[in-house]
Amino acid sequence: MAEADYKVPAHVPPHLVQDFNIFFDGSYNEVFSRWKSLHDEGKPEIFWTPRNGGHWIVTRAEDVETVYGNGELFTTVPYGNAIPYRNTPAPPLPIASEPPEHTEYRRLINPFFFPKRVAKVGEHARRLTRDIMDRLIPQGGCEFYNDFAMYMPIYAFLRLAGLPEEDWEMLMPWAQTVVREPNMEVAASVTRDAWAYLKSRVDLRRTDPSDDPLTALVKGRAFGRELDENECVGSALNILFAGVDTTPATLSFVAHHLATHPEKRRQLVEDPSLIPAAVEEFLRRFPAGVTGRGVKNDMVYKGVTMKKGDPVLSPALLGNLDERRFANAEEVDFNRKNVAAQTLTFGAGPHRCIGMMLARMQLRVFLEEWLPRLPDFRIAEDDTPLVRCGTAMAMTHLPLKWDS
Ligand code: HEM
Repeated sequence: MAEADYKVPAHVPPHLVQDFNIFFDGSYNEVFSRWKSLHDEGKPEIFWTPRNGGHWIVTRAEDVETVYGNGELFTTVPYGNAIPYRNTPAPPLPIASEPPEHTEYRRLINPFFFPKRVAKVGEHARRLTRDIMDRLIPQGGCEFYNDFAMYMPIYAFLRLAGLPEEDWEMLMPWAQTVVREPNMEVAASVTRDAWAYLKSRVDLRRTDPSDDPLTALVKGRAFGRELDENECVGSALNILFAGVDTTPATLSFVAHHLATHPEKRRQLVEDPSLIPAAVEEFLRRFPAGVTGRGVKNDMVYKGVTMKKGDPVLSPALLGNLDERRFANAEEVDFNRKNVAAQTLTFGAGPHRCIGMMLARMQLRVFLEEWLPRLPDFRIAEDDTPLVRCGTAMAMTHLPLKWDS
């Protein structure tokens, strides 16, 4: 590890230091057991990892919820929620703002995520899913992440965002680099490219307005004035990077789980009324985002001395796998009660995911369309799925087979 990357500040005592790098790849079992080992008995519930410039990691649901939701203690200002902190030409919004400013920024884009809009995008997602399946089914197999997971949600997202569908091939690798590239220089360079692209789309909307979020940003008013260019492009950047990779990532874990659990596939085929509960449970069990906050002021939190600006990672995965919150947390159980209210998958507090209805809809469309037509599929015997972790985790290689 480069010296500069390995950081233990003076206020962190040695017994709270553990070496955990959030950027790693592995098989499904390797990845989930490495994360879950952070709950092993005797391990500190809050610890400092010297990796990636150094940051805290909270491991229990109660603390994950506090870090996301308690703006008095933890903040997204000025950097946003990515740990390690990312360089962007200007802050991504609304994530890098706090109420009351946050409320104003979010108000401008909220209507595009209301149920009516989402339902309309849902019809498009359903058509796309059918078309892709028409192509895939005769092949007898596919690499699910590239052939399906990245495709359907992203086309649906572009429709909602009012961005051209042909830009898909450029946007997806950008989003993947930003969330899973450990080299901050590379991530920053891609962010600059995305910034330039979004600036051109924002500029276009000034002269060629449409019914989309970018137009709402350039034409709308907040704080009694129009947003400046950095605020508009920063908001577009947040929507793009938060919206493009997360649903494909979740879909990849759902497909993997179904491929390896025939009884779960049967349950959903025989009783499709379970699908909404299955969507919640899959989201709980496989949360994609691994984000966090900065410490707002010097404080002692649960006996741990934290300094203003310390980065704190609050992985939803660890919160959702915490047995104190969910019994048999590693089990996927469609009959689990009260999941949506307790899950940390979409964060907590004012920054709770604006796209959660869209994400839920896309997962539901997948289950409703895929399972009746392809109730039996498996992992290809001659290949191995791969999970990649960073500020979002995904199964980026998922070879599936079926009898066609
Ligand atoms: C399964 C899919 C998704 C997951 C797991 C997810 C997860 C999250 C989480 C955990 C947060 C809170 C972050 C924080 O407080 O630090 C968040 C916020 C956000 N998400 Fe999502 N998200 C998903 C889909 C989407 C989609 C489809 C969009 C947009 C099209 C989107 C747009 C946003 C935005 C703009 C924010 C910032 C909200 C704010 O600061 O008020 N997300 N998401």
